[in-house]
Amino acid sequence: MSNNLLANKKGIIFGALDENSIAWKVALKVHEQGGKFTLSNAPIALRMGAINTLAENTGSQVIPADATSPEELEQLFIKSMEILGGKIDFVLHSIGMSPNVRKKKEYGDLNYEWFLKSLDISALSFHKVMQTAEKLDAMNEWGSILALTYIASQRTFPDYSDMAQAKAALESIARSYGQRYGRLKNVRVNTISQSPTMTTAGIGISGFDAFFNYADKMSPLGNASAEDCANYCVVMFSDLTRKVTMQNLMHDGGFSTSGITEEIIEQMSK
Ligand SMILES: NC(=O)c1ccc[n+]([C@@H]2O[C@H](COP(=O)([O-])OP(=O)(O)OC[C@H]3O[C@@H](n4cnc5c(N)ncnc54)[C@H](O)[C@@H]3O)[C@@H](O)[C@H]2O)c1
Repeated sequence: MSNNLLANKKGIIFGALDENSIAWKVALKVHEQGGKFTLSNAPIALRMGAINTLAENTGSQVIPADATSPEELEQLFIKSMEILGGKIDFVLHSIGMSPNVRKKKEYGDLNYEWFLKSLDISALSFHKVMQTAEKLDAMNEWGSILALTYIASQRTFPDYSDMAQAKAALESIARSYGQRYGRLKNVRVNTISQSPTMTTAGIGISGFDAFFNYADKMSPLGNASAEDCANYCVVMFSDLTRKVTMQNLMHDGGFSTSGITEEIIEQMSK
């Protein structure tokens, strides 16, 4: 159902890799609500080609950019404004990668080059996106910028490894840039802290199935799906949330404020 919540809004969506990606679902929902956007991902990810189907289905163009490269981000913003015919109203940063997680390095045996890569790709890139947008004066007044995060930034989860530090930095960047961009252009900046979700990034974490099921039982409303997350992003991009900024918004079915649930007690009593 469309309420045209994003009619006349123009944006950039980073991170749609395949149809399981959270960004993929966001693109479909934004399209349904009348928003127009360009899709971007790292050149290497685009080789898979799946994103072209999404582009066709949403009438959007794909622009490659490694989000760690300010030069590529600059080109992305310039081309996006050309294609969309004006400044940008919304940005989704749905980017995360840790070589240490991918290569299953123990937390006591991290490769520091890779640690820096995790931070650059998963956190600093968010700052680079906003700094690029500010320098180009690419955002419209009352625009909305979102990044996706996970609660391991605040509480420990085994095997989330250096991504926990990356997410903590990401959330902190959202607060600091949110203050700056709010004052400069009335642009809001938030992170959405999403439930475990079955995507390429998600299932790359060891023991993911177990903590997906645990989180589901620890959440009175159950885990939030990628589609639920997409709905939340639409609301955050819409004019209905113009005064929400510098927040880490929990989107987790109640997980983050549950001490224990009856389902877990039942399971532990068996
Ligand atoms: N899946 C989960 O359980 C979960 C939970 C909470 C938050 N998140 C976050 O959601 C976001 C999206 O992840 P997802 O679960 O949809 O997985 P995904 O693997 O589909 O998406 C991650 C994306 O990051 C992109 N990427 C990696 N390096 C890049 C670079 N240098 N430049 C540009 N793009 C790059 C990948 O190509 C991919 O499209 C991530 O920030 C992730 O940490 C995921």
